[in-house]
Amino acid sequence: MTRHRIDLNGATVVITGAAGGIGSAVATTLHRRGARVVLVDLSQDAVDSVAAGLSAPRTLAMSADVTDKDTMAAVVAAARDRFGGIDVVIANAGISSGNVAFTASTAPDGIFERVLAVNLFGVWNTVRAALPSIREARGHVLVTSSTYAYVNGAVNIPYAASKAAVEQIGRSLRVELAPHGASAGVLYPGWVATPIADVAFGADDLATQLVARGFPGPLHTPVQAEVIARAVARGIERRAPSIQAPRRWAPVSALRGLLNPVIDGRLARDPEMHRLIRELEQR
Ligand SMILES: NC(=O)c1ccc[n+]([C@@H]2O[C@H](COP(=O)([O-])OP(=O)(O)OC[C@H]3O[C@@H](n4cnc5c(N)ncnc54)[C@H](O)[C@@H]3O)[C@@H](O)[C@H]2O)c1
Repeated sequence: MTRHRIDLNGATVVITGAAGGIGSAVATTLHRRGARVVLVDLSQDAVDSVAAGLSAPRTLAMSADVTDKDTMAAVVAAARDRFGGIDVVIANAGISSGNVAFTASTAPDGIFERVLAVNLFGVWNTVRAALPSIREARGHVLVTSSTYAYVNGAVNIPYAASKAAVEQIGRSLRVELAPHGASAGVLYPGWVATPIADVAFGADDLATQLVARGFPGPLHTPVQAEVIARAVARGIERRAPSIQAPRRWAPVSALRGLLNPVIDGRLARDPEMHRLIRELEQR
C-alpha cells in the first residue's frame, strides 16, 4: 500500500505532554505549519496557556491523565468531534523518577511502577485509543522514547527501562500499521533543557557527576526544545521510522550494537563510577 507524505497543513495532531518543554515546542511548531493541534496534559490551566499562543479555531486544549485509558478514549472522541478525525498522534507525556537519583538497591518502593505507569502504560493507552482514527486516516504515530532506550541506564533504571519499551512499541507498530497504509516512528531526544532533565544538571550533585562521566563531550550538552520540535516536524512529514535529535546522536544510535558492550564494560570497570555509585547508595 503506498503511503503519501504527511502534509502538516490541515492535519490534525494529538499530542500528550503538550504543556511540557518538548510537547509545547512541538505543538507550536506543527501549528505554525498549519496543523490543528489537540493539546493534552495534566492541568487544564497549563494546556490553556500553551493554547493562548495559538489560533483558537485550530486548537483544542484538554486536561487528561495518560495513565487512565478511559480518559484517553474521551480525548480521542473529543478530537474527532471537533476536527473530524486524527492524522497524527504523538505519545509524548513522560516523567523522570524525580530530582534524586538512586540505584535498583536504593530505589524507593513504588517508583518503578510510577514511572512505567506514565512512560509506558501512558504511551500504550494513548496509542490504543488513537489507532482506529490513525488507520482510518492512514496517518502516523510518533512515540517519544529517549537515547536512554539504548545507552546504559545506570542510576536511572525505571526511566531507561520505560524508554527501551517505548522504542519497541514504535518499531513494532510501524510493521503492524504498514498493511493499513499508516505508519509509526520513534523519537529519540538527547538531553534537552526541560524540567525533566534537572536531576542530571544540578538538582542532584551526584547524578550530575555520574551523567557527566557517562555522557562524554557534546553528548552531554542539552539542546533547546525547539531543536527537537523542528526535527519532529520534518520526521512526521517524511513518516521517518526514527528521529534522532540532536543529530550528534545519529552515529551513536547507528553503531549501538558495537559500542554498547564496550561502553558498558568501561563504565562497569571505571573506579570513579564505583566511587560515585557507592556514595549515592550511602546517602
Ligand atoms: N528533556 C530531556 O532531556 C528528554 C530527553 C529524552 C526524552 N525526553 C522525553 O520527552 C518527553 C517530554 O519531556 P520534556 O523534556 O518536555 O519534559 P517536561 O517535564 O517539560 O514535559 C513532560 C510533560 O508531560 C506531562 N505529564 C506527566 N505526566 C502526565 C500524565 N500522567 N498525563 C498527561 N501528561 C503528563 C507533564 O505535566 C509535562 O507537561 C518525555 O517523554 C521525556 O521522557 C526528554
